[in-house]
Amino acid sequence: MKKRIFSGVQPSGNLHIGNYLGAIANWVKLQDEFESIFCVVDMHAITVPQDPETLRKKTIEIAKIYLAAGISAKGGSASGGDPTFPIIFIQSQVPEHTELMWILNTISKMSELEKMTQFKDKTQKGGSEGAAVGLFDYPVLMAADILLYGTEVVPVGEDQKQHVELARDLAKRFNQKFGETFIIPKAFIKEEGMRVMGLDNPEKKMSKSAESAYNRIELLDDEETIRRKIKKAVTDSGSEIVYSDDKPALKNLINIYAAFSNKSPKEIEKMYMGKGYGDFKAELAEVIIGFLTPFQEKYSALSDEEVLEILKDGAEKVRPIAKEKLDEVKTKVGFIV
Ligand code: AMP
Ligand code: TRP
Repeated sequence: MKKRIFSGVQPSGNLHIGNYLGAIANWVKLQDEFESIFCVVDMHAITVPQDPETLRKKTIEIAKIYLAAGISAKGGSASGGDPTFPIIFIQSQVPEHTELMWILNTISKMSELEKMTQFKDKTQKGGSEGAAVGLFDYPVLMAADILLYGTEVVPVGEDQKQHVELARDLAKRFNQKFGETFIIPKAFIKEEGMRVMGLDNPEKKMSKSAESAYNRIELLDDEETIRRKIKKAVTDSGSEIVYSDDKPALKNLINIYAAFSNKSPKEIEKMYMGKGYGDFKAELAEVIIGFLTPFQEKYSALSDEEVLEILKDGAEKVRPIAKEKLDEVKTKVGFIV
């Protein structure tokens, strides 16, 4: 039997090549080997303020990005195995997620949530006093997402590892208290190219929420924008194209080049021996464009109606799985189901 994987992305901000290389590209590779469920996590998105109309638009946008990237969730098109999978759906269309979260809340500790790096980062400016309780509790909802489906593998970027650890701890704790119920999930983190750094600051990861648009290449950026952003990307001192930890900005650009060209950093170094940043950057922009153009063509060919239909269908497929697990949990804690 195939193992199950579950992952999700929030419909906030604009997805960038870091999201693609760190998360979605991985999913596409794994989708046939596993029973795959990919979610648009709109309930996570509202843990920070969102404009309702924008949230609706972004939710459809993320689903289109999943499909354009190659998640074959159009029903029956998965190669071999159970044609039910891969599934894509919207988190808020399956209420079992929040129900399970409530129960998990009762076995989660304040101290373990206070440790979460993401919470600490997101409350750095204003302090945690004014932060929404939902932001604090975000990792428990994520644990519910994962545990509801008997997920064994969670493909995410490095930054989500701590949250997956919490899901593991909660699963173990629940099992110990109430008897064997949850599968203990594992994070799956791709070693190479997993962390794409900001183009304006190679010390910090490329981010949807970075203030400057020059931090990232967005998946829906047009050609001119991509060329401009790569041109402006910070570089290190010196003029040679070398792949080394002493040159973090260049290392990041070479990693991006490598990921989109299927060449190794060493090969790229060789290609640019005796050449300067100008040549390298110009060609890097074209490599990215070469990937993004067909991606964007697929994206544009999808209609909102078609995508909403696929998402509804996905929610209908996952609900029975979710309900079965939730009923088991409710019974174990003493609810009358
Ligand atoms: P986020 O953009 O934080 O909502 O993350 C969505 C997914 O993309 C998660 O699995 C992240 O780990 C991954 N991700 C986000 N930013 C990066 C990045 N700069 N490099 C690699 N993966 C990333
Ligand atoms: N918190 C994750 C992020 O921001 C998104 C997410 C929500 C998720 N639920 C999940 C990822 C379950 C994997 C599994 O990237």
